[in-house]
Amino acid sequence: MENISLHSDTIEQVKERVDLVEVVSDYVVMQKKGADFVGLCPFHDEKTPSFTVSQSKQLYYCFGCGAGGGAIKFLMEIGKQSFRDVILNLAQRYQIPIKTLAPQDQQAIQQEISLRDQLYEILSVASNFYQHSLQQKEGEKALNYLQIDRNLSLENINKFQLGYAPDGWQTLYHYLVEIKHYPVMLVEQAGLIKKKSKGEGYIDYFRNRLMIPIQDSQGRIIAFGARSLDGSEPKYLNSPETNLFSKSKTLFALNFAQKSIIKQDQVIVVEGYFDAIALHIFAIENVVAVLGTALTQQHIRQLSRYTQSKQIIVNFDADKAGLKATERAIKEVENLVYSGQLKLKILTIPNGKDADEFVRSNPESTQTYQELIKKAPLWLDWQIEQIINNEDSYNSADYELAFQRIVRLINKISNNATKDYYLSHCAEILSRKKNPYANFNSDDFKKVYQSLISATKYSSYNQKKSFPKLGNFSQNSQQAEFLLLLIYLHCPDYRETIIEELDNKDLVFTLKSIRFLWQTIHKLSSSITNDNNQNILLMTVQENMVNYPQFAHELNPLFNLSENYQQVLYEPEHIIRGSIACLESVKLEKYKQYCQQKLNELNQEKDLTKMTFYYQELLTTQTQLKQLETQRMKNEE
Ligand code: GTP
Ligand code: MN
Repeated sequence: MENISLHSDTIEQVKERVDLVEVVSDYVVMQKKGADFVGLCPFHDEKTPSFTVSQSKQLYYCFGCGAGGGAIKFLMEIGKQSFRDVILNLAQRYQIPIKTLAPQDQQAIQQEISLRDQLYEILSVASNFYQHSLQQKEGEKALNYLQIDRNLSLENINKFQLGYAPDGWQTLYHYLVEIKHYPVMLVEQAGLIKKKSKGEGYIDYFRNRLMIPIQDSQGRIIAFGARSLDGSEPKYLNSPETNLFSKSKTLFALNFAQKSIIKQDQVIVVEGYFDAIALHIFAIENVVAVLGTALTQQHIRQLSRYTQSKQIIVNFDADKAGLKATERAIKEVENLVYSGQLKLKILTIPNGKDADEFVRSNPESTQTYQELIKKAPLWLDWQIEQIINNEDSYNSADYELAFQRIVRLINKISNNATKDYYLSHCAEILSRKKNPYANFNSDDFKKVYQSLISATKYSSYNQKKSFPKLGNFSQNSQQAEFLLLLIYLHCPDYRETIIEELDNKDLVFTLKSIRFLWQTIHKLSSSITNDNNQNILLMTVQENMVNYPQFAHELNPLFNLSENYQQVLYEPEHIIRGSIACLESVKLEKYKQYCQQKLNELNQEKDLTKMTFYYQELLTTQTQLKQLETQRMKNEE
């Protein structure tokens, strides 16, 4: 395909048809400002929007990094694609006939295009098959489930094209391949059948399940969600990722919700298929569901296109998994919410119900749900509430953790007025709480906060300065190890991150006392149920260390924090990044020296292969070290 040249007619038609605003909206959440649109630049990291798109001129420009051009250039740069591929994709998107320069190339192009069309067709035929089965004897149980347990009318069952996958191993296979004569390869690529794990042949992907078609924004079926009916696991099974379907980009019911999202200028995101279906049936139609995954940036960008005011309301379950998913969703769009590009609100239904149960619970519930939407707190208020409500009364360790978390949240607000508002707000709530600083008032909080912030700025400045220049690292690598342990012990929220970072980069601690402490932590953590509120791990480890006086001198500062180290805890992300980079560079530097030594020892005539190997390793390591250094410089800006 790469060497096929496109006819200039096709190129011209694409250029005429393409709309830059539409193209950019796939990648950037944009707000209208006068005649232009602005958003956070996708080509560099920024906190305030300086990426501008002019609809009339069909040009973009970033005042931050200077990137600029038209729609084609944008797509080439963002997708690292060739001119030809960009034109080809756009032509398909806008259904512009694709002409090639050489006539014999036409067939190859047609084949590639028609693959997707054939997959759509097969999925649609499969859906008809499932819908038909639901009305047969074999589908009776499934139909009863929908009508009785879920209270769905036939009309609604038809609207959502719900169906039933029969219990046989090859029912759909038989229908699509043997009766309808669709090529096996294509049916497999549509995610409807899979190879038998043993032996020859194929079996149906979905068996004895309730089938919920997943449609794209234009209403074409691209996959299925399938609920088990007999309690077998998994409860929900999705189609595998295919040419047409990617879970992290797809939202259930978007095709039904689009109009209403635009009209309400607001979208509600729920966790389950049936939550979305129930809300739609109860006339709340600006609702989509994620597909058993996190809410991703791609989802958010897609949704934000339909709402001018960028209001997204997340209504996940109130159970532990739901809360975690909500936290993750907020984290995912942190840049957008902190810079005010996105108005993210969180709705939690009282008494732990999910949206489906709630709206079906009584006749007035639709109205009540709408009131809950109106009252839904902004993400930051919700998070503060979560932190504060975690415990009824604080002991001092809890209080310290809550304080840390709140300071970290407020710290990231870039707008000063908003920051001030939240400072007063949090001070007020905290001072109402029972806490060890009983007469702590709002002014005290602000003072403590301000001094912390200026101190953190100062200390992290020092921190950066003392981070290793390559080559002279031994002292700093000790400090890096120490700081990682410090954060690990005192900031439970960051434990997972630290472990992941160490694992991913294959790093180990080298300092004897730190290694010992790390082992102790792992021994002890297995016997502790992780309770993030009371830092039990910290207390247990500290008690345990009393038995090892030989390490006391080096490790005591980890437990009895100096003021400087306390400040580190309010900026953990930055410190973790720096320390990991430091350990990584130490490791690479060692390997580089090892390769150099090998090269010196080896004999050019006898060991040429080995020498080439070590030489290449040396070059790679040097490149990695350079990248690390560039990254470190960027980090310090
Ligand atoms: P019902 O029991 O059908 O009412 O489900 P629910 O919506 O009350 O339950 P749940 O909170 O378990 O599921 C919410 C959503 O998470 C579902 O709609 C699925 O998208 C997803 N989900 C739940 N269980 C599974 C599973 O086992 N595998 C996968 N892939 N997704 C699941
Ligand atoms: Mn449910």
